[in-house]
Amino acid sequence: MSNRPKILPWAVVGDNIQGPDQAFYESILAQGNGYMGVRGFDPAGPKENGHERSVFLAGFFEYIKAGITDMVNTPDLFAVRFGFPCKRVWASARLDMDTGLLTWEGIWETEDRLQFSVTSRRVVSMANPHAAALEVEITSLNGDLELALETGLDGDVANLPISDDQLAQNTTVHRLLFPVTCAADRDGGLLIMESRPSEQSLYQAYRVKANRPMALEGVVGDAYTAVRLRGTLPKGEVLRVEKFIATYSSRDEHREPAAAARDLAAQLAVQGFGEVLEESSAAWNRLWGQCDVELDSELEELQGAVRYNIFQLLQNNASHDPRVSIGARGLMHGRYKGNYFWDTEIFMLPFYLCTRPEAARNLLLYRYHTLDDARESARGFGLKGARYSWMCSRTGFEQCETWDTGCCEVHITADVAHAVQRYVEVTGDEDFLVNYGAEILLETARYWVSRLTYDPREDHYNLLFVKGPDEYCGVTNNNTYTNFLVRENLLNAVGAVRALQEYPEAWEKLQSRLGVSQDELALFGEVAGKIPILYDEGRELFIQDENFERLEPLDIEAHKEGAVPLYRTISYDRLQRYRVLKQADLVLLMAMFPERFSYEQKRNVWEYYEPLTLHDSSLSFGTHAQLAAMLGYEEQAVDYFAKSAFLDLHNIMDNVHKEGIHMAALGATWQALVFGMAGLSVDQAGSVRVNPRLPKEIRAMRLSVVVRGRRYRLAVEGDQAQVTAL
Ligand code: BGC
Repeated sequence: MSNRPKILPWAVVGDNIQGPDQAFYESILAQGNGYMGVRGFDPAGPKENGHERSVFLAGFFEYIKAGITDMVNTPDLFAVRFGFPCKRVWASARLDMDTGLLTWEGIWETEDRLQFSVTSRRVVSMANPHAAALEVEITSLNGDLELALETGLDGDVANLPISDDQLAQNTTVHRLLFPVTCAADRDGGLLIMESRPSEQSLYQAYRVKANRPMALEGVVGDAYTAVRLRGTLPKGEVLRVEKFIATYSSRDEHREPAAAARDLAAQLAVQGFGEVLEESSAAWNRLWGQCDVELDSELEELQGAVRYNIFQLLQNNASHDPRVSIGARGLMHGRYKGNYFWDTEIFMLPFYLCTRPEAARNLLLYRYHTLDDARESARGFGLKGARYSWMCSRTGFEQCETWDTGCCEVHITADVAHAVQRYVEVTGDEDFLVNYGAEILLETARYWVSRLTYDPREDHYNLLFVKGPDEYCGVTNNNTYTNFLVRENLLNAVGAVRALQEYPEAWEKLQSRLGVSQDELALFGEVAGKIPILYDEGRELFIQDENFERLEPLDIEAHKEGAVPLYRTISYDRLQRYRVLKQADLVLLMAMFPERFSYEQKRNVWEYYEPLTLHDSSLSFGTHAQLAAMLGYEEQAVDYFAKSAFLDLHNIMDNVHKEGIHMAALGATWQALVFGMAGLSVDQAGSVRVNPRLPKEIRAMRLSVVVRGRRYRLAVEGDQAQVTAL
């Protein structure tokens, strides 16, 4: 890309941002607090790219057609409009990761060449999820400026079509929010909107203050409310406008949400921008205390890049809300319609699990709250138990509109079960196991028993017509990754029941509610033992699935051009007959369960599959870095790690401007660093081990993790590790 950001240890800086770089910076500079995500646009900047100025709220989805939702683009709460012809001639921006502050600086010019500078600073509060604040400073540079500007809430928003490989072609602009109340007076206003067809409400209030006397008036449009400020700004003087915004929605189940929004906006205005920022910074400070990874590294900008990965994982997680998960592009872009995938459980969750277990618990509770939908989905497929959907949002019902992926990428169900199991092992949270986890494990195990096909000739339970993690494999049989996790799922269900014997009352209730019998549990064990895991003894090699070795070889060098994924140049239908991988598949399995495979088995998987992998999914690089580190392949570990750590900041896949940031890659980066390079492992009994494999480019690393309720500080230097229980 033409204009790379500068990555400082605690900040990301873009200088001289113009033209097509604008959308890139709007993606990487996005701000959020888990409740709300706001793309990093310049408040005073242009509005022409409607979806680039998006603001999303966690869990706020609306139906765009029967059964299919989109994440609703909500009003632009930072909008600043000048009431006279002028244009921005220069701009730079800076996102501070220690405080969450986003600053845009611009030089603007009027038609008669009067120049003025505009510096905006804004915060989406980490201390109060409903609060946000903006401060704009305008300085007239070379003459007296007749100033007119408006700032308020711009609800004239829609969901624009975003191209997407997992959904039917989407070309319709959807207007999902409609104004109910739109009011303004000289120091603030109120906007209430309703989404249709579900009639969810959004309540936003704002207050505006200025540092010098200006003529103020309220302005209202159809879905637009603002305060207009007019006055002369003498050369060299500064107009400072502060704005405070409070957001509630019907999802908050607040008794008087409009009043709550008004009161909060007023309270923030009394506090002032500085104090709102300070409170939010203090909350960030606490988060960094739990989640920071400090590096001594000679790799340029690596420290800042690693922090950026963590920063976005924190901003996009509604850590207190058990009714939402995290979309593939978080709250920062509408791609994939904001949907939740296995990305959460397999790629992101380990980070929360080891740093903020309560956030991990809430992510898994989302799966518990959608368990009934998963049951209904299983019934819809003529099966038993609970089947999690490949993509979901407000409910657990399938949002994926391509039949091969939606019907066949069934590993998601085993991925959820795996995450439940790991959560219980790492936290020792028996309350979760007893009240939620065991039920998920049992119902998903039931699903597998009904989904597998028994072959009496071989006495095998085969998993037919499935797609594994590698989405270029087509629809195939006995994908080894999936079969392995299904086996785990069945055995973990039996293990959960064993653990529940300690809680006879709870177990009795669950047993009678689900109608689980000893015979059924015995069947789980028996089926688990008869699921084929494809393995070539001679080559000591796991085989991806039954088709894999029959596929036609492809000269990757000749076909792959730069970052463009092959599915853009070769049809999916053709791709699935080539022996190439879109993303880590068995490499992922080896990285997830390193202790279950010998060094040779892991090495052989690497040697065979890595050269065939195109990394056309952002999920792939971090996992490759992790396994390479585990194998001691230092150079490849560093190479893949850099691709994952800088994936968004260096626009490695050349799509950040159009598609936003890649949440799973952020989590994969953290896992590569912590499980791969620092060599942290936590076994089933919760014992912590550290077996450092730092590449020479990283001299030392310090971080902390929480295991079984206890925080440990890990200090790794060279091949030495120190683990201190705090
Ligand atoms: C990947 C999936 C992933 C999805 C959302 C696809 O391109 O192949 O594994 O879940 O993107 O990130």
